[in-house]
Amino acid sequence: MRILVIGAGAREHALVLALASDPIVTAMACAPGNAGTAAAAEQVGVDVADPASVAKLATAWAADLVVIGPEGPLVAGAADAVRAAGIACFGPSAGAARIEGSKAFAKEVMAVAGVPTARSELVDNPGRLDAALRHFGSPWVVKDDRLAAGKGVVVTEDLEVARAHALTLLDGGHPVLLESFLDGPEFSLFCLVDTRRTVVPLLPAQDYKRVGDGDVGPNTGGMGAYAPLPWAPESLAADVVARIVQPVVDELARRGVPFSGLLYAGLALTTAGPQVIEFNCRFGDPETQVVLSLLRTPLAGLLMATATATLAEQPPLDWDAGAAVVVVVAAEGYPGLPRIGDVITGSGDPGVLHAGARRRHDGAVVSAGGRVLSVLGAGVDLAAARKQAYERVDQVHLPGGHYRRDIGLRATRRADGPSAGA
Ligand code: AMP
Ligand code: GLY
Repeated sequence: MRILVIGAGAREHALVLALASDPIVTAMACAPGNAGTAAAAEQVGVDVADPASVAKLATAWAADLVVIGPEGPLVAGAADAVRAAGIACFGPSAGAARIEGSKAFAKEVMAVAGVPTARSELVDNPGRLDAALRHFGSPWVVKDDRLAAGKGVVVTEDLEVARAHALTLLDGGHPVLLESFLDGPEFSLFCLVDTRRTVVPLLPAQDYKRVGDGDVGPNTGGMGAYAPLPWAPESLAADVVARIVQPVVDELARRGVPFSGLLYAGLALTTAGPQVIEFNCRFGDPETQVVLSLLRTPLAGLLMATATATLAEQPPLDWDAGAAVVVVVAAEGYPGLPRIGDVITGSGDPGVLHAGARRRHDGAVVSAGGRVLSVLGAGVDLAAARKQAYERVDQVHLPGGHYRRDIGLRATRRADGPSAGA
């Protein structure tokens, strides 16, 4: 099987490595790829923003399966274009990808499906903003309705900060979504979903959204993750599928936009049970790095079964009994404008996945984006996995780079209960 992966992050590096280890795979390419994927897959150029360019490449490279990593191409219709060219594709249609592309659409689907989520209000007129902010109260959750890579959200107890963020968006002509605050540890549940409405959950994982230790500072795309969740009930994934994911999958199918690919539920475990923070239409970054490192079932067959709507015929998934941790090393300035072009050393370990990193003409690996490396650790338990991840982080050098030191830390003290996860 020839597989083409679209994307250039550490998520795609993790996908390429997991797919390449499946014996049914005969050739791999990654477009546009990065310094890490280039070591395991052919690197080819593509305009990821242009669905026709993705489909043309898939045909020219004779792909049997195209796996689309990021949301941008999916929302733009890359999966539709690949399927129209007669090639199997892992990833939803543009219509189904709206579950991530428009938060207002996601809220409407959830309301009809009876899925628990934060109360919300779309504000598109500055004249209505103050009344709406008063109505919600502190802490305020202010979101950009468009795709914003996790960075368009401000959660704050400061009314002026909330108002300023909303006004900046409104001044730019973008509607603002206000939400009630969901209290409780956050986690991500990835589900493989096919057009026959079969849902197969992967292991729940926890992502760290804020830039600094102890969850301080601005939101990022994700600074680290771990799995499994020692503080979560055994039934968590099945419960989320039954109460949240399956009803949404059924509702999308009923609307004529059946989901196919990976449906990512971002959740808060509140005292009233799991509630949805957001849906994404693709694998999450950095949670994918830990989830795939624990998956023993060969990945290529699984993604092909998803793309061809035969998930129901697959045997149950097989998982490692241990734990995994990933620590993201980010460039100076991230999540603001990152400094790029710094030489990275010590990134040759197989547990170091590349994201914003490219190989310069002289062979040096240099930073080329905000989240530069994803450093993995594995072990019999979370403490052992943390130890290995941070030992590897110590071997890596990126001038001005920064990372969180507390990934998975509170969860190693599982006696703390659910609040230990956040
Ligand atoms: P989103 O882009 O919607 O995933 O939001 C990014 C992050 O903001 C989430 O991972 C949460 O940490 C936080 N967040 C978003 N919405 C809420 C909410 N309603 N209640 C509490 N935290 C939220
Ligand atoms: N880990 C957050 C995301 O992928 O959106």
